[in-house]
Amino acid sequence: MSAPLLSVRDLSVDFRTRGGTVHVLDGVSFDLQQGETLGIVGESGSGKSVTAFAIMGILERAAEVRSGDIHFEGRDIRAMSTRDRDLWRGKEASIIFQNPRTALNPIRSVGRQIADVIARHAPDRPPVIREKVLEAMRQVRIPDPEKRIAAYPYELSGGLCQRIGIAAALACNPRLLIADEPTTGLDVTTQAVIMDMIRDIARAGNLGTVLITHDLALAAEYCDRIMVMHAGHVVETAPVAQLFANPRHPYTQGLLSSVPSLVDSVHDLRAIPGSLPDLRRTDLPPCRFAERCARRQPDCDQSGLGLEMVDAGHFVACRNPL
Ligand SMILES: Nc1ncnc2c1ncn2[C@@H]1O[C@H](COP(=O)(O)OP(=O)(O)OP(=O)(O)O)[C@@H](O)[C@H]1O
Ligand SMILES: [Mg+2]
Repeated sequence: MSAPLLSVRDLSVDFRTRGGTVHVLDGVSFDLQQGETLGIVGESGSGKSVTAFAIMGILERAAEVRSGDIHFEGRDIRAMSTRDRDLWRGKEASIIFQNPRTALNPIRSVGRQIADVIARHAPDRPPVIREKVLEAMRQVRIPDPEKRIAAYPYELSGGLCQRIGIAAALACNPRLLIADEPTTGLDVTTQAVIMDMIRDIARAGNLGTVLITHDLALAAEYCDRIMVMHAGHVVETAPVAQLFANPRHPYTQGLLSSVPSLVDSVHDLRAIPGSLPDLRRTDLPPCRFAERCARRQPDCDQSGLGLEMVDAGHFVACRNPL
């Protein structure tokens, strides 16, 4: 296999809060190949967005990357200057956010917002930029782009706003696309249209895509591989069919059994006993799922729990997998 597009190794992120330091991510590692779609799933608070923001270099100030290597096409992006990282973001790697309305600037026309991205990476004369903006709007199939280019976000539907977000993310032809819950809050028909569009664009451009979602049915349909997170740990990763057919981590099993049928979408994965541990604790067990786990054994509380291969491409962090 060729060198991965994106390689994340041992990424740990803390948040400083008044209540103490929160160990939000702990030793997150994964690779993403060019042309591959990786789904990141896990209940609310498991660290999916923080992982995405850490990769993009857009964590808030209270967050600190405690350790970890992030390589993009072999380049160490954490070692880049702020300026180079800013240029990398948007041009080579882009993110689509969950809430299209809040991700857009309410007092700037949508056309200007796409133009801002293009102009930052490839300054050009205004008519040329305008043509590129229209082209980006056409790529995401916004009807009547000449008219909509001057619209403000409040004048457009949620689905159209998300298309604008996608157009801005893709305007400079990045090779990595991270979509953080791109269709949550949109109606089911619009969800499918947007997801199909992201998939088609990713395929056409051979992009590496990370799709963060609560929705296992969506992940099953659109991803090649799934990575399951729990409380800032990666607990399991496998090719999509393998994960759904043969989940080995008790947490993954719980997630899957909380979905009545994969034909139905779920937006709430909290049907697993207990809740995420308090990540401010200094006595977190090596397996952060242990306290919720029916299969817990004494050796689960010993140190040094990592992902182990149980099958081709299938890794599990569990001392007592199913
Ligand atoms: N500013 C912050 N200060 C302290 N803790 C934070 C902050 N932002 C996030 N966290 C913590 O980081 C953890 C992971 O958050 P993250 O947003 O990555 O979860 P998520 O998996 O994306 O959840 P969701 O599915 O709800 O989007 C949570 O436990 C959250 O409480
Ligand atoms: Mg999130």
